[in-house]
Amino acid sequence: MQNFEIVVVDDRKTLKAIGSLERPISEAFIRENYQQLSFSEEELLKKKTGLLATMFPPSWRTPDFRLDKIGEEELAAMRRPLPTSPVLLVVVYDPSRRAPASEGDFLGIVSLGCVMQNMWLAAESMGIGLQIVSSLSSEPEVKGILGIPDDLTIAFSCRLGYPISEPAKHLRVRRDVRDFTHQNRFGD
Ligand SMILES: Cc1cc2nc3c(=O)[nH]c(=O)nc-3n(C[C@H](O)[C@H](O)[C@H](O)COP(=O)(O)O)c2cc1C
Repeated sequence: MQNFEIVVVDDRKTLKAIGSLERPISEAFIRENYQQLSFSEEELLKKKTGLLATMFPPSWRTPDFRLDKIGEEELAAMRRPLPTSPVLLVVVYDPSRRAPASEGDFLGIVSLGCVMQNMWLAAESMGIGLQIVSSLSSEPEVKGILGIPDDLTIAFSCRLGYPISEPAKHLRVRRDVRDFTHQNRFGD
């Protein structure tokens, strides 16, 4: 489904205006993120899904995280502006339309995931770094800055640029193919 439009932002002033917006992280994000944490490399290697807890600030590593319980410094760090990049792609779609007979536009949303994946693979193949940015989707100011009509929703954004440094290395795990495939019948 071609259910998307892309705003290519490369104007410095506009990038700066978007970059300086506060992007608060919700308690819900941190609480749900906690569910996928492992607390040692051994645990993560055994689980084969999720992330190492040490990738996140100490206060995120507890099940009962509360925004009102953390210090000013950490709160300020969580409101950090979006780092600059030469180009930002903002992908929007019309949530009032749906793929034919697709409840909740499930297939339309899947299509947006394909758009994300294709852009990511294309960028990688050209040596261009791409970071998905989910947090701009919930910032009404972004739509105002870019003149995006009210009836469209920001699905996701991508920061693009040639990398100037190696990304931090974290233990990354994947399930083995046999862990999530079933032969002819689920469970077999
Ligand atoms: C739907 C989706 C949303 C994501 N949103 C963000 C994001 O807001 N910020 C971010 O830094 N990375 C985001 N990512 C990237 C992931 O955090 C992760 O870096 C990426 O999937 C590569 O992980 P891997 O090295 O384990 O494959 C997102 C990825 C996906 C698929």
